[in-house]
Amino acid sequence: MEYGKISVILRRELEQMKKLIRELEILDNRSVARDQFQLTLRGEEVLPEVMPGQFVNVAVPDSPQTFLRRPFSVLDFAPETNTLSLLIKAVGQGTRHLAACRVGQKLSLLLPLGRKFTLPESADRIFLIGGGSGIAPMLFLAKYCGLPREQVTLFLGARSRADAIALRGYEQYARCYIATEDGSVGERGFVTLHSIYKSEFTKNNRIYACGPAPMLKAIAKDAVTTGIFYELSLENMMACGFGVCLCCVEPTIYGNRTVCSHGPVFNINELTWQI
Ligand SMILES: Cc1cc2nc3c(=O)[nH]c(=O)nc-3n(C[C@H](O)[C@H](O)[C@H](O)COP(=O)(O)OP(=O)(O)OC[C@H]3O[C@@H](n4cnc5c(N)ncnc54)[C@H](O)[C@@H]3O)c2cc1C
Ligand code: FES
Repeated sequence: MEYGKISVILRRELEQMKKLIRELEILDNRSVARDQFQLTLRGEEVLPEVMPGQFVNVAVPDSPQTFLRRPFSVLDFAPETNTLSLLIKAVGQGTRHLAACRVGQKLSLLLPLGRKFTLPESADRIFLIGGGSGIAPMLFLAKYCGLPREQVTLFLGARSRADAIALRGYEQYARCYIATEDGSVGERGFVTLHSIYKSEFTKNNRIYACGPAPMLKAIAKDAVTTGIFYELSLENMMACGFGVCLCCVEPTIYGNRTVCSHGPVFNINELTWQI
């Protein structure tokens, strides 16, 4: 079957799954920290609703070597302007190509993908913990959750000052803290050893996190011993992004599950991690 026909069939199947392919125009592409850039994109057609924790699969333009779409959590979604933002760390060919994209260029996105975070109840105190570019879905949740600022505490873990994005714009939604491995900004050390995290971690909090596996596992240890609510977003390697290729499976208490469609958000109690 020729490629054009396959493409039409695939789009129809995806629409039945409520996954859409949309062309978005780059409104802004700016550097926000070392090797990290923020893309702001506007849809030509109305974008479907995207919730904190969900992700998009982005086709890298003019890059035959990276023909598979690349997954990125949503940093922000504004239906009133039909815009969506991503925070991307350039780590390989695909992300470096995206970093070089110019304002006005169009990107093809598959969205909305994956399971969102469970929104907190109005009385909850929440801890949002992001390591590196894993801060993206945490910032979206901080803004979206609707809790008063005093109930939201946000932690960013980074290697150094140069790797830490500015949190100024989020001070209105959360108390914000940074930990860097070299101590060049915020407290020195891993984010899970931050003094505020250590002193305020109680059973009455909810924890949400995204970032490197060692960070997620360190939080899991604290959460499991205290029995605290803990949801995390996994970033397993992905290809299709909608549950067909099976390249992103994670063992869970229900058996192997695709992270792209059953996750990327999981409750720690669903995973079978040895902690
Ligand atoms: C659900 C989900 C959400 C994500 N959200 C973000 C985000 O908000 N911001 C962001 O910067 N990145 C995010 N990632 C990771 C991002 O998708 C990868 O960094 C990207 O696909 C790498 O593409 P590349 O072509 O540049 O790298 P490649 O050339 O494909 O690989 C370069 C290096 O990156 C590593 N890599 C590739 N894919 C991943 C991955 N999924 N996780 C970790 N390392 C990877 C490879 O092992 C290799 O070492 C997310 C991944 C998933 C699955
Ligand atoms: S990426 Fe294909 S099944 Fe998850």
